[in-house]
Amino acid sequence: MSYSKIGVVGLGIMGAGIVEVFARSGYEVIGVAESEAAVEIGRGNLAKSLSRAVSKGKLSQNESDVITGRVTFGPEFKLLSDCDLVVEAAPEILSLKTSIFSQLDQVVKPSGILATNTSSLSVTQIAQATNRSGQVVGLHFFNPAPVQKFVEVIGTKISDPDVVASVTALGAALGKRTAQVTDKPGFIVNKLLLRYLNHAVQILDAGSASKEQLDAAMRELSNYPMGPCELLDLVGIDTCVEIMKTIHADTGLDIDIPAQGMLELVADGKMGRKTGSGFYDYSQSHEAPTDSDELIKAQVHLDLVTAYLGDCIAMQATGYASREDIDAGMKLGCGLPEGPFEVIERVGLSQVRKNQADLANRTGISSYQPLSL
Ligand code: CAA
Repeated sequence: MSYSKIGVVGLGIMGAGIVEVFARSGYEVIGVAESEAAVEIGRGNLAKSLSRAVSKGKLSQNESDVITGRVTFGPEFKLLSDCDLVVEAAPEILSLKTSIFSQLDQVVKPSGILATNTSSLSVTQIAQATNRSGQVVGLHFFNPAPVQKFVEVIGTKISDPDVVASVTALGAALGKRTAQVTDKPGFIVNKLLLRYLNHAVQILDAGSASKEQLDAAMRELSNYPMGPCELLDLVGIDTCVEIMKTIHADTGLDIDIPAQGMLELVADGKMGRKTGSGFYDYSQSHEAPTDSDELIKAQVHLDLVTAYLGDCIAMQATGYASREDIDAGMKLGCGLPEGPFEVIERVGLSQVRKNQADLANRTGISSYQPLSL
């Protein structure tokens, strides 16, 4: 299988970012969205990202023009007919994605591979909307797609192994570290990341800390590039709610019920950066949140990190992903300075298990208990 012409359906922040990734790597790209207005937004998203790189001296204006020249935008699916691969990056609504895939199946040439950038929905169900389910995989990028150097490749039980292998090789050709995973809600990174983000909002909802304390705690005490509320705003709070609903439907655990604070913001139309406000207001420039209450910051930092490390241990112990893939996913997909297993090695497994037991006992939430050995 060889790839020269790539289609992208959906031109929001993720879709436009994926267009940029392929165009920067020299591929001819067709970007399609549902209306002329959505196409214009996508074109603007690409232009903004490239002009940011030009203004930082990372790209010359000429290079930026060459990249832009590789991309054709339009609102019609038929533009995608001779693409070797089409990546769908529409909102996280299963019925929308299955409808897109059944249309793609009609218009894309028979040898074309179809990939979904879904964050947590079933790739298997999406594949079943086509008559080429063996040629359907998940190809999951991280936001901002041009920056984060990790992609998850999701093969289903019905995916052709050669297709999974060739899409994985393509991911590597884009300069990304790849991990092959099976089709489980949240895959590697979102299962871990979204639970952590939801946990932070549960702490906020309980009134135990402010959003500034939560964000400052993770930035200052773990050197995360962003705190949880800032990251929810970047990813999109509506998207995060949808991911948590899928994870909750799978686990049935109370800790996976989308936190009230997220539901309220979504109901208010405050989805994060893309709508101009979420936990924070983006009408002015956003500064890193600060707070001087060191005790509260230390407590929420310990609780968030403890629960997260426990989840990483459980994910590895159940054989879903290797510690190398988990560490790479969290570092290269989310810009974290250390992988969770590097943290566990530094802190000591027995200390992490003790912290897990303390958290479970203090909160009365048995899901936080360490795995029995
Ligand atoms: N598009 C393109 N490039 C961007 C960008 C964007 N939206 N935002 C930032 N960048 C680039 C900048 O140009 C800059 O590039 P250089 O280093 O080449 O100059 C680099 O990223 C750093 O940017 P800044 O200095 O402006 O800002 P920063 O240092 O605060 O970094 C950040 C911004 C890269 C977003 C960083 O804060 C970060 O990594 N945050 C964590 C993001 C994260 O966790 N993403 C994963 C979310 S989960 C997901 O996406 C999956 C899902 O399905 C929900």
